[in-house]
This record gives sequence, C-alpha cells and structure tokens, in this order.
Amino acid sequence: MKIVNVVGARPNFMKIAPLMRAYKACPRIAPLLVHTGQHYDERMSDLFFRQLGIPEPDVNLEVGSGSHAGQTAAIMRAFEPLLLAHRPDAVLVVGDVNSTLACGLVAVKLGVRLVHVEAGLRSFDRTMPEEINRLVTDSVSDLLFCTEPSGVENLRREGVAPEKIFLVGNVMIDTLLAHRAKAEASRILDDLGIAPGRYAVLTLHRPANVDDPVRWGRILDALQVIQRDLPIIFPVHPRTRKNLGGPSAGRAAAMKNLRLIDPAGYLDFLKLMSSARLVLTDSGGIQEETTVLGVPCLTLRDSTERPITAEVGSNRVVGTDTEKILAAYREVMDGRGRRPQIPPLWDGHAAERIVAVLAERL
Ligand code: UD1
Repeated sequence: MKIVNVVGARPNFMKIAPLMRAYKACPRIAPLLVHTGQHYDERMSDLFFRQLGIPEPDVNLEVGSGSHAGQTAAIMRAFEPLLLAHRPDAVLVVGDVNSTLACGLVAVKLGVRLVHVEAGLRSFDRTMPEEINRLVTDSVSDLLFCTEPSGVENLRREGVAPEKIFLVGNVMIDTLLAHRAKAEASRILDDLGIAPGRYAVLTLHRPANVDDPVRWGRILDALQVIQRDLPIIFPVHPRTRKNLGGPSAGRAAAMKNLRLIDPAGYLDFLKLMSSARLVLTDSGGIQEETTVLGVPCLTLRDSTERPITAEVGSNRVVGTDTEKILAAYREVMDGRGRRPQIPPLWDGHAAERIVAVLAERL
C-alpha cells in the first residue's frame, strides 16, 4: 500500500516526523515523502529534517514563495505528474498551509484517497488563509484525523460522515514529547545570556498582524511596556523580517530588551518555550505546545481554531488591543489563572493510532 505524504512549510515537519517513524512498524505501508519546497531556507526547513530525524524527501518540488494563487497553482502543477507516475493508494496531508490544500485537490481530482491529519479545526475567521485551506481540504478528504473534540464537532456539523472521522490526539505533541529530553540539553539560554523563568518568548508571522501597520503598532506598544520588566526573545520569521525593514524598524530596534534573533531550530525553540515565564504568539501550534509544557501563552489574535488550549490549557486568546495584552500579561505575572491540564489523547501516541486506522481502512 503506497501512501504519498506531503510536507511544505515549517509546522508540517513536526507533524510528519512521528508518522514516518510509525510507518516503520507497519510493513504493509510503503510511504513516500514529498516536500513541496514552500519553505526552503536552511533554518525554516533542512534543520528540522535533521533534528527530527525525518528521512530525506523522496521528491522536492522546489516551488518556493509566491502569491497565494501563484504558490498553490505551482504546487498543483508540480504534484500532478508525480501522482500520475506513482499512482499511490492514498495521499496524506497535514495542517492547513497552501501545500496541504494544493496537494489535497490534486489527489481527489485524480481519484486518489485523501487523508487529512489535523482535520476539523475552525477559527470561523474566513479572512485567514489557513481557514480556507482547512475548509476546502476537509470537504474533500476521505479520512479525517482530529486533535481535539471541537474538530469532530465541526466536521459533523458540516455534514462529514461520522465513519470518516477519528479523534486520535496530536502528532505535533508526539514530536514534542519525543524530543523534550534532547531539548533540555540545548545551550540556547547560555548563548543568549538569559535565565529560566526570567524572559518571554515572542513569535509573530500572521499577515493580519505583521502586514497591518495599525495592529503591528498596537502590538509594539504592548511589547514596549513588557520588555521594560522582562526581556523578550523574538525569533523572527522571514515574513516578519521583511516588515521589520519597513517603517517600524526604528521602534523595534529602540527597545533594548526586545531581542531579535534568527528563526530557531526545533530543539532550541522547545528549550526556549519550556523555560519561559510567558510566550506571546500568533502561531497555531505554539498554543498547543505551551499547553503541554504548562507555560502561559498569550495568543495575539481575535480567535483560535484550537479552543481546547484555552478551555483546559494555558492559553489566553487576547487579541491585539494594547491594553488587553497588558492586562493579560499582568495577570500572568501576578500568578493568577488556573492550573492547565493536558487535553485527552495528547500522550505521544497519535501517529501510531493514525497508522493503525490507515492499515485497517485503506
Ligand atoms: C506559512 C503558512 C502558515 C504557517 C507558516 C509557518 C500558508 C498560507 N501559510 O506562512 O499557515 O503558519 O507558514 O511558518 O501556507 N520565506 C523565506 N524563506 C522560506 C519561506 C518563506 O524567506 O523558507 C519568506 C518569503 O519571502 C515568503 C514569505 O516568507 O514570501 C512567506 O512565506 P509563505 O510560505 O508564503 O507563508 P508563511 O508566512 O511562511
């Protein structure tokens, strides 16, 4: 049974790693790994393959960056001949990036069964490109694997047949738990001269935040106050780096304790998160990772597609209003808030459950 597995962008790599490992226990499945090349920088891609022990991709489509339509179309054009040549039994896509959508559409149009890992998440904000990618991919998938109960409920409400939906837990957390001990040995805190519990970590890359000068300005106003008390370590995504070259460059540079660093590798970033007093982010995956680490997370967005992280985990969805960010920051620093719990099935074995279902159903 041949399964083509697709990765494209940074958050896909930690999701595919445990699946590639779990396939080894199932000799009936012959996995092929395809990298679309959506992310291509050493620090956005290759480093993750090495640190997570992901096998070299069998094929790299090398599509690179572009507009949404341009990038999606380039992936589709490159992926179609590959599927025609290999004729797999299924295509497996993860997450919600343009590579997920593009390869999913190509698969179903060629009559190849589509498997979506991390299905059913909904922010209910259709201005987010990822929300469109999630809606379209789920609507054409044959097997849908969910990380949390909200995903199952969303899919049922949208009319997906219950026998296609599986609540299996979270492959990103499989990777976190498998690499926690190794990450402990990272020297990143020493290299940066910071002490555990005495700094915050910031990540920002969503177009709605970093491409909008008004929202970006409000976030910078909050950061200006926070960094006076707590140094902020800010690994900068390439998209954000471009923006920092613009009119806001001077403001960010003038904040003595806002420390811009290059995108961190997986192990360094895991160490940075797990020892932080607080994480501020607009990422999806980091809301989940901080939940498992029990580190307070302020999500600088108006919505989350991962509600369980705020219901039982350490996440607070605070938006981008300066005062709201600062109020939540003060609550965290005062130690207010409940003790976070780990969502059901986030136990490090999601990939094994997925492979067991694939072996039975395909
Ligand atoms: C993509 C995903 C987003 C995910 C994020 C994680 C979509 C629609 N978005 O956003 O859901 O959270 O990845 O990082 O798929 N660039 C580089 N080097 C790289 C990759 C990108 O310099 O290796 C620069 C390019 O200038 C590019 C820009 O970053 O134009 C944005 O890259 P793109 O892949 O379009 O989207 P991301 O913002 O990374």
